[in-house]
Amino acid sequence: MNPNPDLNSGQGQNQLQNSAEQRAVLTNSGIIDARSLEQSHKRLAEIIQPGMTVLDVGCGTGAITHGIVDMVGSEGMVIGIDNNPDLIEKACQNYSHISNLRFEVRDIYSLPYENQFDIVTSARVLQWLSSPFAALEQMTQSAKIGGRILVLDYNHEKMDWKPEVPDSMRVFYTAFLKWRSDAGMDNAIADHLKEMFEAVGLQNIQVTPQHELVEHHQPNFQTQTLIWAGVSSFKGEQMVQECYIEEGKRAKAEHDYRKWVEEEAKSQCMYLLSVEGIK
Ligand SMILES: C[S@@+](CC[C@H](N)C(=O)[O-])C[C@H]1O[C@@H](n2cnc3c(N)ncnc32)[C@H](O)[C@@H]1O
Repeated sequence: MNPNPDLNSGQGQNQLQNSAEQRAVLTNSGIIDARSLEQSHKRLAEIIQPGMTVLDVGCGTGAITHGIVDMVGSEGMVIGIDNNPDLIEKACQNYSHISNLRFEVRDIYSLPYENQFDIVTSARVLQWLSSPFAALEQMTQSAKIGGRILVLDYNHEKMDWKPEVPDSMRVFYTAFLKWRSDAGMDNAIADHLKEMFEAVGLQNIQVTPQHELVEHHQPNFQTQTLIWAGVSSFKGEQMVQECYIEEGKRAKAEHDYRKWVEEEAKSQCMYLLSVEGIK
Protein backbone atom coordinates (compact mmCIF):
# COMPACT_ATOMS: atom_id res chain seq x y z
CA MET A 1 0.00 0.00 0.00
CA ASN A 2 1.18 3.54 -0.68
CA PRO A 3 1.27 5.78 2.44
CA ASN A 4 -0.71 8.43 0.52
CA PRO A 5 -4.39 7.27 0.88
CA ASP A 6 -5.37 8.98 -2.39
CA LEU A 7 -2.98 6.70 -4.23
CA ASN A 8 -4.62 3.52 -2.95
CA SER A 9 -7.74 4.15 -5.04
CA GLY A 10 -7.99 2.71 -8.57
CA GLN A 11 -7.22 6.15 -9.99
CA GLY A 12 -4.25 6.51 -7.64
CA GLN A 13 -2.88 3.16 -8.77
CA ASN A 14 -3.19 4.25 -12.41
CA GLN A 15 -1.31 7.46 -11.62
CA LEU A 16 1.47 5.49 -9.95
CA GLN A 17 1.64 3.08 -12.89
CA ASN A 18 1.88 5.98 -15.36
CA SER A 19 4.64 7.65 -13.33
CA ALA A 20 6.50 4.36 -12.96
CA GLU A 21 6.24 3.67 -16.69
CA GLN A 22 7.63 7.11 -17.55
CA ARG A 23 10.42 6.85 -14.99
CA ALA A 24 11.40 3.32 -16.06
CA VAL A 25 11.96 4.20 -19.72
CA LEU A 26 15.53 3.39 -20.74
CA THR A 27 16.87 6.20 -22.91
CA ASN A 28 20.34 4.69 -23.22
CA SER A 29 20.79 0.94 -23.56
CA GLY A 30 24.58 0.93 -23.06
CA ILE A 31 24.42 -0.61 -19.58
CA ILE A 32 22.08 -3.47 -20.50
CA ASP A 33 23.80 -4.14 -23.85
CA ALA A 34 26.99 -4.98 -21.94
CA ARG A 35 25.33 -7.73 -19.88
CA SER A 36 25.47 -11.49 -20.54
CA LEU A 37 23.75 -14.58 -19.18
CA GLU A 38 26.96 -15.91 -17.58
CA GLN A 39 27.95 -12.64 -15.90
CA SER A 40 24.62 -11.00 -15.21
CA HIS A 41 22.07 -13.77 -14.51
CA LYS A 42 24.24 -16.48 -12.97
CA ARG A 43 21.56 -18.52 -11.21
CA LEU A 44 19.57 -18.78 -14.43
CA ALA A 45 22.68 -20.04 -16.23
CA GLU A 46 22.96 -22.80 -13.59
CA ILE A 47 19.44 -24.16 -14.01
CA ILE A 48 18.73 -24.00 -17.75
CA GLN A 49 18.68 -27.38 -19.47
CA PRO A 50 18.75 -28.22 -23.18
CA GLY A 51 15.27 -28.41 -24.70
CA MET A 52 13.62 -26.00 -22.24
CA THR A 53 11.15 -23.28 -23.11
CA VAL A 54 12.04 -19.96 -21.45
CA LEU A 55 10.27 -16.59 -21.22
CA ASP A 56 12.53 -13.59 -20.46
CA VAL A 57 10.34 -10.74 -19.25
CA GLY A 58 11.78 -7.22 -19.60
CA CYS A 59 14.52 -8.53 -21.89
CA GLY A 60 15.70 -5.12 -23.13
CA THR A 61 17.91 -5.52 -26.20
CA GLY A 62 18.28 -9.28 -25.63
CA ALA A 63 21.87 -9.29 -24.33
CA ILE A 64 20.98 -11.92 -21.68
CA THR A 65 18.22 -13.57 -23.73
CA HIS A 66 20.45 -14.71 -26.59
CA GLY A 67 22.69 -16.48 -24.06
CA ILE A 68 19.62 -18.42 -22.90
CA VAL A 69 18.98 -19.72 -26.40
CA ASP A 70 22.57 -20.96 -26.64
CA MET A 71 21.91 -23.11 -23.56
CA VAL A 72 18.47 -24.51 -24.47
CA GLY A 73 19.85 -25.49 -27.88
CA SER A 74 17.93 -26.25 -31.05
CA GLU A 75 15.30 -28.35 -29.24
CA GLY A 76 14.41 -25.45 -26.93
CA MET A 77 12.53 -22.19 -27.49
CA VAL A 78 13.04 -18.72 -26.01
CA ILE A 79 10.80 -15.65 -26.08
CA GLY A 80 11.94 -12.24 -24.85
CA ILE A 81 9.34 -9.54 -24.19
CA ASP A 82 9.70 -5.87 -23.33
CA ASN A 83 7.29 -2.95 -23.44
CA ASN A 84 9.88 -0.65 -25.02
CA PRO A 85 9.54 -0.99 -28.84
CA ASP A 86 12.95 0.61 -29.49
CA LEU A 87 14.72 -2.04 -27.40
CA ILE A 88 12.77 -4.87 -29.02
CA GLU A 89 13.59 -3.50 -32.48
CA LYS A 90 17.28 -3.57 -31.56
CA ALA A 91 16.94 -7.11 -30.18
CA CYS A 92 15.25 -8.28 -33.41
CA GLN A 93 18.00 -6.67 -35.51
CA ASN A 94 20.77 -8.25 -33.42
CA TYR A 95 19.40 -11.79 -33.24
CA SER A 96 17.03 -12.27 -36.21
CA HIS A 97 19.26 -15.13 -37.43
CA ILE A 98 18.33 -17.36 -34.46
CA SER A 99 15.22 -19.34 -35.42
CA ASN A 100 14.13 -20.49 -31.95
CA LEU A 101 14.45 -17.01 -30.38
CA ARG A 102 11.58 -14.54 -30.70
CA PHE A 103 11.18 -10.99 -29.36
CA GLU A 104 7.79 -9.37 -28.79
CA VAL A 105 6.63 -5.94 -27.60
CA ARG A 106 4.45 -6.76 -24.60
CA ASP A 107 3.54 -5.36 -21.23
CA ILE A 108 4.41 -7.47 -18.21
CA TYR A 109 0.96 -6.65 -16.77
CA SER A 110 -0.87 -8.38 -19.62
CA LEU A 111 1.00 -11.43 -20.80
CA PRO A 112 -0.95 -13.69 -23.19
CA TYR A 113 0.74 -16.98 -22.18
CA GLU A 114 -0.77 -19.73 -20.03
CA ASN A 115 1.01 -22.82 -18.65
CA GLN A 116 3.57 -22.53 -21.45
CA PHE A 117 7.16 -22.20 -20.16
CA ASP A 118 9.60 -24.31 -18.15
CA ILE A 119 11.20 -21.13 -16.83
CA VAL A 120 9.79 -17.61 -16.64
CA THR A 121 12.40 -15.10 -15.60
CA SER A 122 12.84 -11.37 -15.12
CA ALA A 123 16.13 -9.63 -14.35
CA ARG A 124 16.21 -6.13 -12.84
CA VAL A 125 12.65 -5.43 -14.01
CA LEU A 126 10.29 -5.66 -11.00
CA GLN A 127 12.30 -2.88 -9.31
CA TRP A 128 10.86 -0.49 -11.95
CA LEU A 129 7.19 -1.39 -11.43
CA SER A 130 4.50 0.15 -9.24
CA SER A 131 2.62 -3.19 -9.03
CA PRO A 132 5.30 -5.89 -8.96
CA PHE A 133 2.92 -8.42 -7.42
CA ALA A 134 0.52 -8.14 -10.38
CA ALA A 135 3.53 -8.71 -12.65
CA LEU A 136 4.58 -11.77 -10.66
CA GLU A 137 1.05 -13.18 -11.03
CA GLN A 138 1.28 -12.78 -14.80
CA MET A 139 4.68 -14.46 -14.86
CA THR A 140 3.33 -17.35 -12.78
CA GLN A 141 0.37 -17.78 -15.10
CA SER A 142 2.81 -18.06 -18.04
CA ALA A 143 4.75 -20.97 -16.47
CA LYS A 144 3.83 -24.64 -16.84
CA ILE A 145 2.65 -26.50 -13.76
CA GLY A 146 5.96 -27.64 -12.27
CA GLY A 147 7.75 -24.83 -14.12
CA ARG A 148 9.99 -22.34 -12.39
CA ILE A 149 9.73 -18.59 -11.81
CA LEU A 150 13.09 -16.87 -11.32
CA VAL A 151 13.35 -13.19 -10.44
CA LEU A 152 16.60 -11.29 -10.08
CA ASP A 153 16.40 -7.89 -8.41
CA TYR A 154 18.07 -5.26 -6.24
CA ASN A 155 17.69 -3.73 -2.83
CA HIS A 156 18.87 -0.19 -3.59
CA GLU A 157 18.71 0.73 0.10
CA LYS A 158 21.66 -1.63 0.67
CA MET A 159 23.90 -0.04 -1.94
CA ASP A 160 27.46 -0.02 -0.56
CA TRP A 161 30.23 2.25 -1.85
CA LYS A 162 33.66 2.24 -0.25
CA PRO A 163 34.80 4.75 0.80
CA GLU A 164 31.59 6.77 1.18
CA VAL A 165 30.69 8.75 -1.98
CA PRO A 166 30.86 12.58 -1.92
CA ASP A 167 28.00 14.34 -0.10
CA SER A 168 26.66 15.69 -3.39
CA MET A 169 26.25 12.14 -4.72
CA ARG A 170 24.62 11.01 -1.48
CA VAL A 171 22.12 13.89 -1.87
CA PHE A 172 21.46 12.78 -5.47
CA TYR A 173 21.08 9.12 -4.50
CA THR A 174 18.62 9.96 -1.71
CA ALA A 175 16.57 12.04 -4.16
CA PHE A 176 16.77 9.18 -6.71
CA LEU A 177 15.32 6.69 -4.21
CA LYS A 178 12.52 9.11 -3.33
CA TRP A 179 11.80 9.77 -7.03
CA ARG A 180 11.44 6.02 -7.47
CA SER A 181 9.34 5.33 -4.36
CA ASP A 182 7.01 8.27 -5.14
CA ALA A 183 6.14 6.39 -8.35
CA GLY A 184 5.27 3.29 -6.30
CA MET A 185 8.53 1.42 -6.93
CA ASP A 186 9.91 -0.71 -4.12
CA ASN A 187 13.56 0.26 -3.55
CA ALA A 188 14.05 -2.82 -1.35
CA ILE A 189 12.21 -5.27 -3.60
CA ALA A 190 14.95 -7.94 -3.47
CA ASP A 191 14.16 -8.50 0.20
CA HIS A 192 10.40 -8.67 -0.42
CA LEU A 193 10.45 -11.20 -3.25
CA LYS A 194 10.34 -14.27 -1.00
CA GLU A 195 7.09 -13.20 0.66
CA MET A 196 5.64 -12.25 -2.73
CA PHE A 197 6.52 -15.74 -4.05
CA GLU A 198 4.79 -17.29 -1.01
CA ALA A 199 1.71 -15.10 -1.52
CA VAL A 200 1.37 -16.11 -5.18
CA GLY A 201 1.51 -19.78 -4.13
CA LEU A 202 4.93 -20.81 -5.45
CA GLN A 203 6.64 -23.79 -3.80
CA ASN A 204 10.23 -24.73 -2.88
CA ILE A 205 11.30 -21.10 -2.77
CA GLN A 206 15.03 -20.58 -2.89
CA VAL A 207 16.96 -17.34 -2.42
CA THR A 208 20.48 -17.01 -3.85
CA PRO A 209 22.61 -13.90 -3.22
CA GLN A 210 24.06 -12.55 -6.47
CA HIS A 211 25.48 -9.25 -5.19
CA GLU A 212 27.40 -7.30 -7.79
CA LEU A 213 30.72 -6.50 -6.11
CA VAL A 214 33.46 -4.76 -8.06
CA GLU A 215 36.84 -3.76 -6.64
CA HIS A 216 39.20 -1.18 -8.02
CA HIS A 217 41.79 -3.66 -9.29
CA GLN A 218 39.21 -5.40 -11.52
CA PRO A 219 39.15 -4.52 -15.24
CA ASN A 220 35.39 -3.78 -15.22
CA PHE A 221 35.59 -1.48 -12.17
CA GLN A 222 35.24 1.80 -14.05
CA THR A 223 32.40 0.54 -16.25
CA GLN A 224 30.42 -0.75 -13.28
CA THR A 225 30.93 2.23 -11.01
CA LEU A 226 30.30 4.73 -13.81
CA ILE A 227 26.80 3.28 -14.20
CA TRP A 228 25.90 5.76 -11.45
CA ALA A 229 27.37 8.67 -13.40
CA GLY A 230 25.04 7.52 -16.19
CA VAL A 231 22.08 7.37 -13.83
CA SER A 232 22.82 10.85 -12.50
CA SER A 233 22.92 12.06 -16.09
CA PHE A 234 19.98 10.26 -17.80
CA LYS A 235 17.60 9.74 -14.88
CA GLY A 236 18.91 12.94 -13.28
CA GLU A 237 17.61 14.94 -16.24
CA GLN A 238 14.12 13.54 -15.63
CA MET A 239 14.45 14.18 -11.89
CA VAL A 240 15.37 17.82 -12.53
CA GLN A 241 12.35 18.25 -14.82
CA GLU A 242 10.14 16.75 -12.11
CA CYS A 243 11.69 19.02 -9.41
CA TYR A 244 13.32 16.25 -7.33
CA ILE A 245 16.72 17.96 -7.53
CA GLU A 246 18.07 21.25 -8.91
CA GLU A 247 20.23 21.04 -12.03
CA GLY A 248 23.23 22.59 -10.21
CA LYS A 249 23.08 19.90 -7.52
CA ARG A 250 22.62 17.12 -10.09
CA ALA A 251 25.58 18.34 -12.16
CA LYS A 252 27.77 18.64 -9.04
CA ALA A 253 26.83 15.09 -7.98
CA GLU A 254 27.81 13.73 -11.40
CA HIS A 255 31.07 15.70 -11.48
CA ASP A 256 32.09 14.81 -7.89
CA TYR A 257 31.15 11.17 -8.38
CA ARG A 258 33.25 10.85 -11.57
CA LYS A 259 36.19 12.37 -9.68
CA TRP A 260 35.59 9.94 -6.78
CA VAL A 261 35.66 6.98 -9.21
CA GLU A 262 38.89 8.28 -10.71
CA GLU A 263 40.72 9.10 -7.48
CA GLU A 264 39.24 7.41 -4.41
CA ALA A 265 36.86 4.57 -5.11
CA LYS A 266 37.81 1.17 -3.72
CA SER A 267 34.67 -0.92 -4.18
CA GLN A 268 31.00 -0.91 -5.06
CA CYS A 269 28.53 -3.57 -4.04
CA MET A 270 24.98 -3.64 -5.40
CA TYR A 271 22.78 -5.92 -3.30
CA LEU A 272 21.12 -8.36 -5.72
CA LEU A 273 19.11 -11.51 -4.99
CA SER A 274 17.88 -14.27 -7.23
CA VAL A 275 14.61 -15.74 -5.97
CA GLU A 276 13.03 -18.82 -7.52
CA GLY A 277 10.01 -20.99 -6.89
CA ILE A 278 8.08 -23.83 -8.51
CA LYS A 279 4.50 -23.46 -9.79
C1 LIG B 1 16.94 -2.43 -16.07
S1 LIG B 1 16.29 -3.07 -17.56
C2 LIG B 1 16.79 -4.78 -17.43
C3 LIG B 1 17.02 -5.42 -18.78
C4 LIG B 1 17.60 -6.85 -18.69
N1 LIG B 1 16.63 -7.77 -18.14
C5 LIG B 1 18.88 -6.86 -17.89
O1 LIG B 1 18.92 -7.45 -16.80
O2 LIG B 1 19.85 -6.24 -18.37
C6 LIG B 1 14.54 -3.19 -17.22
C7 LIG B 1 13.75 -3.58 -18.45
O3 LIG B 1 12.39 -3.78 -18.08
C8 LIG B 1 11.56 -3.26 -19.12
N2 LIG B 1 10.23 -2.96 -18.57
C9 LIG B 1 9.90 -2.02 -17.67
N3 LIG B 1 8.58 -2.01 -17.46
C10 LIG B 1 8.06 -3.01 -18.22
C11 LIG B 1 6.73 -3.51 -18.45
N4 LIG B 1 5.68 -2.95 -17.85
N5 LIG B 1 6.56 -4.54 -19.30
C12 LIG B 1 7.63 -5.08 -19.94
N6 LIG B 1 8.89 -4.65 -19.77
C13 LIG B 1 9.11 -3.63 -18.93
C14 LIG B 1 12.32 -2.02 -19.56
O4 LIG B 1 11.92 -1.55 -20.84
C15 LIG B 1 13.75 -2.50 -19.54
O5 LIG B 1 14.15 -3.08 -20.76
